[in-house]
Amino acid sequence: FRALGSRRSLVCGEGTLVDTVRDEIARACVRYGGSTDRPHPRPDRRPADDRSAAGTAYDLVLALVPAGLLPIAAAAVDVVYRRRYGAGTLGEEGFLLARHTEVTVVLAEAPAGLLYGLFHLVRLGESAFGLTRPMELHRPAMRLRMLNHWDNIDVHPVMGQVERGYAGGSIFWQDGARREDLTRVGAYGRLLAACGVNAVSVNNVNVHATEARLLTDRLGDVAAIADVLRPYGIRVHLSVSFAAPVMLGGLSSADPLDEAVREWWADATKRVYESVPDFGGYVVKADSEGQPGPFGYGRSHADGANVLADALSPYGGVVHWRAFVYNHRQDWRDRSTDRARAAHDHFVPLDGQFRDNVILQVKHGPMDFQTREPVSPVIAGMPGTRLAVELQVTQEYTGQQRHICYLAPWWSEVLGFGPWGDDGPTVAAVAAGASVGDAAERGAAGDGGGLVAVSNVGDDPFWTGHPLAQANLYAFGRLAWDPRLAPTAVLDEWIELTFAASAPNGLGLVRRVLRAIMDDSWRTYERYTAPLGVGFMVHPGDHYGPDVDGYEYSRWGTYHFADRDGVGVDRTRASGTAFTGQFPPPWRDVYESVESCPDELLLFFHHVPYGHVLHSGSTVIQHIYDTHFAGVEQVVAMRQQWERLAGVIDPGVHARVRERLDEQVRCATEWRDQINTYFFRKSGVPDAHGRRIH
Ligand code: GCU
Repeated sequence: FRALGSRRSLVCGEGTLVDTVRDEIARACVRYGGSTDRPHPRPDRRPADDRSAAGTAYDLVLALVPAGLLPIAAAAVDVVYRRRYGAGTLGEEGFLLARHTEVTVVLAEAPAGLLYGLFHLVRLGESAFGLTRPMELHRPAMRLRMLNHWDNIDVHPVMGQVERGYAGGSIFWQDGARREDLTRVGAYGRLLAACGVNAVSVNNVNVHATEARLLTDRLGDVAAIADVLRPYGIRVHLSVSFAAPVMLGGLSSADPLDEAVREWWADATKRVYESVPDFGGYVVKADSEGQPGPFGYGRSHADGANVLADALSPYGGVVHWRAFVYNHRQDWRDRSTDRARAAHDHFVPLDGQFRDNVILQVKHGPMDFQTREPVSPVIAGMPGTRLAVELQVTQEYTGQQRHICYLAPWWSEVLGFGPWGDDGPTVAAVAAGASVGDAAERGAAGDGGGLVAVSNVGDDPFWTGHPLAQANLYAFGRLAWDPRLAPTAVLDEWIELTFAASAPNGLGLVRRVLRAIMDDSWRTYERYTAPLGVGFMVHPGDHYGPDVDGYEYSRWGTYHFADRDGVGVDRTRASGTAFTGQFPPPWRDVYESVESCPDELLLFFHHVPYGHVLHSGSTVIQHIYDTHFAGVEQVVAMRQQWERLAGVIDPGVHARVRERLDEQVRCATEWRDQINTYFFRKSGVPDAHGRRIH
């Protein structure tokens, strides 16, 4: 904020979000000695030039247009904008940045645009005031950029307060109630707006008894949170139980086709909007891992989603209906059932049956947020449905915020993937609202379901447990705004924003060290954990650390099928579960053939002998050994790198990361030794380099 706070600025426009912009700049000015102004209140006074109102020249003008009187620089930029792009191009959240006669101008046509323009300026710092800056127009690719909190009000006996949370307790809830003091929630709203996020759901998708009541008698808590987040352009959503009419309404059934049930939802929803007029909508996990759903009444998921959608539609709300539906009581002996197939089998036949305000929320991969998975074929299978792609910022399967694992390269691969090959839209374009016919990326938000992710934030002093995990939160917001951003560029932004103030002299070193540690950290994590896309091999229940056979004879549908000859899951049409057939061409054939299947997904799609030769030239067994030795070496190198920052950055941050790196070295070593030993014992093949295998 220094670049802004040390200058003279004018903010033109009215409304809550414009006030937020004004307050932000005013606060920065108090800190850095600049000044901020608002346009002269008398409409008859025509400013002669930018020096008019207070006799000062402005360095910066942020203006909501069309506005009555604009200072000359802003008016001139506005004219160019209209001529070049046409009024309305900026939409609800876009903004334009330009320089005119030594004034930096940000224009927006709606208040949220001004807010995002402000945070863009913060990212640019001094360079926003450079002499030559070409005009830039920014609009989000996704209209909905949402975080789901898996927070409970009560502390759950097994999952704790935040399910799969690795950053302490909830920032919303404490001791069985809403937190009295919501200051932290306000700060979170500010943080999220700076990342580009515009929606949050405030409770776990597994809705327990207490949390179900947020929809009814605890609605005041939701309203209080919404009040605090509203000034940052963030709408509140709620996870609801499909059985709410029974649990809360005392009805005998939650059958979506029952008139009394429809009325109950309509009535409950009306009351929600009376308390929270800009309420975003419902998130629903139905018929999934024990949650109630329409199957219980012999109805389809379209019937189920539509009853909630109808209740929300008069108010402009949406239902995020999750596609994570599979048989979680599978018999491991049954080789024909394939969990990877489930979402496609359940939902694709329903394409076209969902209301317009239903958003089908699809996990990016067919299994469950593993370190490596193919893209879910559901994303390519429902052209008549609004789809949201769900990512996991919380690191359930990627090191639980004890390991450094910068996830943007992974998300970027997913978002840039073309399910139809090079001829159709990418995953990002589908989420933004492109249909199969649209070959090109859309420039601006369509009416797709957008991007959703499970939040990694808790009441930890560093927000995310591991201080470097903040980069994942930031990257999620930035990629939801613009999926084409390079992960390294996003990381640079985050480093600059996070450390510029506390390490102004050492910023170059901080950047070098963090880039060396984080750029490739997802691939490093992949190297020392489950090999070649086979997934899981984690400790059951808490999902932390290695346990190769932990899930092998379980009911969860997550198997690797290793025996003395080979490993992997046969998902081919020729001899396996035919999951490959759920993809359109070319992928259905690329994945089907062991020759063309990419190495990193080989064991996801095929069961192969240990001696199978990869495209890399290595055998599967030697690849396993090599990557596991290399992965641990890389983590040890990360720890060494980190020591270079001792005394350069905040000692508290340094100590926390050091402690976690020690744990990462320990845990990665455990992974290496268990995986290597397991496969050596199964295969009997020694390491070609004679390294120690236990
Ligand atoms: C995973 C996770 C659960 C979560 C579920 C979901 O299975 O382990 O804790 O509830 O995903 O996405 O609903």
